[in-house]
Amino acid sequence: MVARRTDTDGRRAAVVAGVGSCLPARTVPNEELAARLDTSDAWIRSRTGIARRHVAAPGTATSDLAVGAGARALKSSGEPAVDAVLVATTTPDRPCPATAPLVAARLGMTGAAAHDVSAVCTGFVYALASAAGLILADVAERVLVIGAETFSTLLDPGDRSTSVIFGDGAGAVVLRSGTAGEPGALGPFDLGSDGESEALITVPAGGSRQRLSGVPPRPGEEFFTMSGKEVFRHAVRRMTGSAKAVLARAGWTAEDVDHMVGHQANSRITQHVAEGIGLPPQRCFSNIAEVGNTAAASIPLALDQAHAKGVLRPGQRVLLTAFGGGLTWGSTVLTWPRLDPS
Ligand code: UT7
Repeated sequence: MVARRTDTDGRRAAVVAGVGSCLPARTVPNEELAARLDTSDAWIRSRTGIARRHVAAPGTATSDLAVGAGARALKSSGEPAVDAVLVATTTPDRPCPATAPLVAARLGMTGAAAHDVSAVCTGFVYALASAAGLILADVAERVLVIGAETFSTLLDPGDRSTSVIFGDGAGAVVLRSGTAGEPGALGPFDLGSDGESEALITVPAGGSRQRLSGVPPRPGEEFFTMSGKEVFRHAVRRMTGSAKAVLARAGWTAEDVDHMVGHQANSRITQHVAEGIGLPPQRCFSNIAEVGNTAAASIPLALDQAHAKGVLRPGQRVLLTAFGGGLTWGSTVLTWPRLDPS
């Protein structure tokens, strides 16, 4: 689905006004996984680009990371509060209620609208589109959009194919009402899904399907499972298609893109997507070596780190593209604004 472009220059738009992130202190290098699983540092680096990932300490929850990232994004925006808080996550603190109201309360914003967005690794792009919708519909002037995960809580410690990829973390942006055409204005968006392929990425147990089946969960069914090879192919195809669609809608060519900040699924996936779009590898920001695949947190975490390192500079044109379980995918573009550090 390509969103209809109604926001020509001068019209209302959602504008990025702040960015921040939060990583748990503990890092797990590949060697630590290789000590307990049938894998190696060389395999993980060559097949995924990952050297280490951050893992939340016992006693931590997704909301803790979300609050850390959200507070930094608010500080960077210069605004103490917003009208709505959206948290994109696959790993909410509890199945019920959503994590966002607690995050809003802990950030001193009891009373703000707050809800979670569930689209696995595409969650942040879906949340950006939802937040932009709230702003364009005049429901909110400012929205805090957070991607936060403690993905380690979903992993089967004995499954080498997933344990080596995923990490924990959070990233956030503040969106404010502004005008299309100004630096930071988001859009257009491209969003899509393919529920026929839902089984490729799933947590089999714990939902209504399993509970109402009358069959108790088999051991391990509470963990995240992924058909890696097939997902790889879908990820390349869908992110490439979505990125191309959004560029066409924006009237940009690959030459116009200074940086692609894609979902950090696997460095080989990013390289294939870049090739498919016609972007040289040096224009693809990558932080996967240090943080792994942090699912819904991956894009805002990458944006904050790229901004902090001076890689993203004001006036540069940025393409965001993501793919995840569902299956889901989504892309958007913006010109990077001048922001305070978080
Ligand atoms: O975040 C959005 C959703 N997720 C993704 O986009 C991730 C998509 N998938 C991937 O990133 C990759 O498919 C993986 C990293 C999961 C796997 O890499 P691959 O290159 O596709 O490996 P493979 O599954 O084709 O396996 C190749 C070999 C197999 O051995 P045989 O059958 O050739 O003997 C696997 O058993 O590598 C083996 N293998 C491993 N070996 C060492 C699989 N995982 C590991 C491992 N260490 N961790």
